[in-house]
Amino acid sequence: MGGLPFIAGNWKMNKTVAEACDLVRELKVAIAGIEGVEVAIAPPFTALYAVHQELQGSAIHLAAQNLFWEGKGAYTGEVSPAMLKEAGCRYVIIGHSERRQFFGETDEMVNRRMKAALGLGLKPIFCIGETLREREEGKTFSVIERQVEGGLRDLGETEMKSVVVAYEPVWAIGTGKTATPQQAEEVHRFIRERIERIYSRQIAEEVRIQYGGSVTPENIKGLMDQRDIDGALVGGASLKSETFAKIVRFKEM
Ligand code: PGA
Repeated sequence: MGGLPFIAGNWKMNKTVAEACDLVRELKVAIAGIEGVEVAIAPPFTALYAVHQELQGSAIHLAAQNLFWEGKGAYTGEVSPAMLKEAGCRYVIIGHSERRQFFGETDEMVNRRMKAALGLGLKPIFCIGETLREREEGKTFSVIERQVEGGLRDLGETEMKSVVVAYEPVWAIGTGKTATPQQAEEVHRFIRERIERIYSRQIAEEVRIQYGGSVTPENIKGLMDQRDIDGALVGGASLKSETFAKIVRFKEM
């Protein structure tokens, strides 16, 4: 569902400016001419502008990994939506599980970031997902429901059209343990149903829902074959042009 498949690379806290530019140059070659798939990369803040320059004339979009909700002021260490916009970002990852786990982000903070991003025309990649414990306790769907409702609170239909959802089960991130296509599909379908209930059938069918968590060239095809999986948010495998390009070229497999 959801239109053009969307593969995004989350580089996390990896790559200096020079390393980031090297990787982008390789990537441009590795995925040149590819059609029918949207691609974005999310380097760390320090490399955004330099990568934006490298991306001139390329179809690869730029994403940031977080943002602060205030426009400007005395918020040492934070980065505003306008700063990201000017650095060339089209997308911004919001509510990644590492932010929730290590930096205490709540659904309410995620919601504030969503509104701030959308207010400036940045498209959120809105991350949700359950921990292993929550899954084992049978709470997957209630956790997802809470995250969806909390993160999207008060967002209108027009705003929702700019949102990409990323389902990333925490137990699958960086662990090499991918959710099976069936496990992922089950949750993706649930997310789409929740969105339909909050918004409309049309919005739910159009929203792109990425899967994230140990995506590799080996497992991407099986995931993308699922009806409700519209793309992937790729961490570790996005740090090498060769593996990321293979994932982006999943249709050729
Ligand atoms: P991973 O990370 O592909 O390394 O598991 C995915 C993510 O955290 O976005």
